[in-house]
Amino acid sequence: MPAPTPRSGIMDIVAYKPGSAGSPATKIYKLSSNESALGPSPKAIAAFKAVADDLHIYPDAGASALRAAVAAEFSIDEGLVVAGAGSDEILTLLMRGYLGPGDSMVMSRHGFAIYAIATTGCGAEVIRADEENLTTHVDNLLAAVKPNTKMMMLANPNNPTGTLLSGAQLRRLRENLRDDILLVLDAAYAEYVEADDYEDGIGMVGAAIKSGADNVFTTRTFSKLYGLGGLRVGWGYGPKPVVDVLNRLRGPFNVSAPAQAAGASALADKDFVARHLDHNKIERARLFEALQELGFRPIPSHTNFLLVGMKGEDPKARAAMADALNTHLTQQGTIVRPVKEYFLPDYLRMSVGSSEANSALIEALRCFK
Ligand SMILES: Cc1ncc(COP(=O)(O)O)c(C=O)c1O
Repeated sequence: MPAPTPRSGIMDIVAYKPGSAGSPATKIYKLSSNESALGPSPKAIAAFKAVADDLHIYPDAGASALRAAVAAEFSIDEGLVVAGAGSDEILTLLMRGYLGPGDSMVMSRHGFAIYAIATTGCGAEVIRADEENLTTHVDNLLAAVKPNTKMMMLANPNNPTGTLLSGAQLRRLRENLRDDILLVLDAAYAEYVEADDYEDGIGMVGAAIKSGADNVFTTRTFSKLYGLGGLRVGWGYGPKPVVDVLNRLRGPFNVSAPAQAAGASALADKDFVARHLDHNKIERARLFEALQELGFRPIPSHTNFLLVGMKGEDPKARAAMADALNTHLTQQGTIVRPVKEYFLPDYLRMSVGSSEANSALIEALRCFK
């Protein structure tokens, strides 16, 4: 019997694999999706509950209060902010808006998975540029550009590597990139960065707009520092023509009412943000040291997770160790993230969890034979 067939290329997509949550252990610590170690912001929980009696009402289609809160927080034009059901939605919409068959998108070799998934879904080609020391490399990205390249995607800091490209390097990238290529700076982990020369994207978008260039866009999320991964809320900021494209493509009610309310309240919860950042700094350092002491090779991180290299010189043996360690940690109830699909078979990614979770992880690492 003839059957409906998907568009060409759709079946080439390797579906996104979320961080696992399963383990035979009775007490489970999920350290596989870089979620908030301190749960959600208490102010966001209160705002979420306050909407409960009005769940029959459609959300504000323009997410006005949320966009106004974002605009006030970052001193940017509210009209240039778009809200999304997670930043994933904004990233996917950008690709739907700018990529089609015959086009290409350039990304870094170990760049975030959604870029390749969404690009392939649009029928466009994914081009990966090699990194150096697990860090995005500007000249390699520029060299990878082809005449049909329409977009360049960059997570800064990047997931799963946790590494950062300096502001100077990023500006050099934009200056040397063709003007008709949209550069998207995914700043999902921006809040965790302490480096002096960091360009979170907002300043770069502003500078581009001022100079009459409509070719830089940035995205942010409430899923990490603000602890709202389960709600799906994020936002993007960029030039008017790009914002117009997103507003034409997005569903009219793409961000739910509880998500809008909780997002705005999380942004205002300065106490939670400060506590969370302190916690992350202290606990990330503790985890890093413990891993090093045990002979593993954690990569210095600007985020709420660590990419951890296995021991030894032989890549095959290291990849086998990553598999064995992943199995062992899962059995112990500390679930981390294998990153084979990121071309990193000899690494595991570990989120910085609560103090209790990190202690359990360190204990489980110690008893790995
Ligand atoms: C680099 C990067 N960008 C975007 C996202 C998506 O976040 P959201 O939950 O806002 O869709 C993630 C989530 O892990 C991420 O690591």
